[in-house]
Amino acid sequence: MRIKKAVFPIAGLGTRFLPATKAMPKEMLPVVDKPIIQYAVEEALASGIEQIIFVTGSGKGALEDHFDTNLRLEKTLEERKKTDLLQAVKSIVPSASCIVYTRQSEPLGLGHAIWCARDIVGDEPFAVLLADDLIQSEVPVLYQMINEFDRLRASMMAIVEVPKEETSRYGIIEGEEAFNGTFQVKSMVEKPEPENAPSNLAVIGRYILTPKIFKLLGKKQKGAGGEIQLTDAMSALLEEQPIFGYKFKGRRFDCGDKAGFQMANIAFSLERPDIREQLLPGLKKLIN
Ligand code: G1P
Repeated sequence: MRIKKAVFPIAGLGTRFLPATKAMPKEMLPVVDKPIIQYAVEEALASGIEQIIFVTGSGKGALEDHFDTNLRLEKTLEERKKTDLLQAVKSIVPSASCIVYTRQSEPLGLGHAIWCARDIVGDEPFAVLLADDLIQSEVPVLYQMINEFDRLRASMMAIVEVPKEETSRYGIIEGEEAFNGTFQVKSMVEKPEPENAPSNLAVIGRYILTPKIFKLLGKKQKGAGGEIQLTDAMSALLEEQPIFGYKFKGRRFDCGDKAGFQMANIAFSLERPDIREQLLPGLKKLIN
């Protein structure tokens, strides 16, 4: 079965970016000139996803507007013959009914957010993308993972090696390399202190999950930070089905973190010839 649906948990408050996120969803923070969420949506669509499921919350109106037509803006751009901008603005809006919204009315954690999408996903494997994890890659990371899924037909998540002292920021897996870069997961734990971490292989916000996960998430057991954690439900899933960690090809930026967000802006700006020319000498001057 093909992976056609992708869940985007976007109900978070974005407190780490206050006051910027007081009235603006954190997913709308721009990297260069595109909001973070648009990168993740484009990655999903480029990977063959046909339905985007936003699990949203209050105060996310700007995000819904972003993925909708803005007739007044389009008319003005047309009149001013700003063809490129008009095209850029129009291309954001996916085809009718491609985006579905549901709400997570209580902030009970990532696992709970995904559970909120159960009826829309139904009984088929699906993807989850956490927009905070922005990935620069030649081949979209989700596309890489869907290819691997076609081979393994099992739940999987993207993984990277992190410095041991940072394990308490991630889900960490214990695994054995089954194929080049693909690890069969033996156990996983959410945000362990370095001394308790089974490895330095951290889970990054791209998952492909089998629908069995919903039954386990439905138990609503609270884990790290008092939240319903996806990692805990995946640990339980391990008792029934194999799970794999996939070392993707690409560079990941943690846009949920101030320094990571700034680094993403610099890295993506340097990829743009028009900006690079000005930015590079400016950066060199700042550093010296
Ligand atoms: C979530 C997951 C965690 C994962 C991380 C990746 O944590 O719970 O397992 O490693 O995303 O970004 P969060 O960053 O939402 O606290």
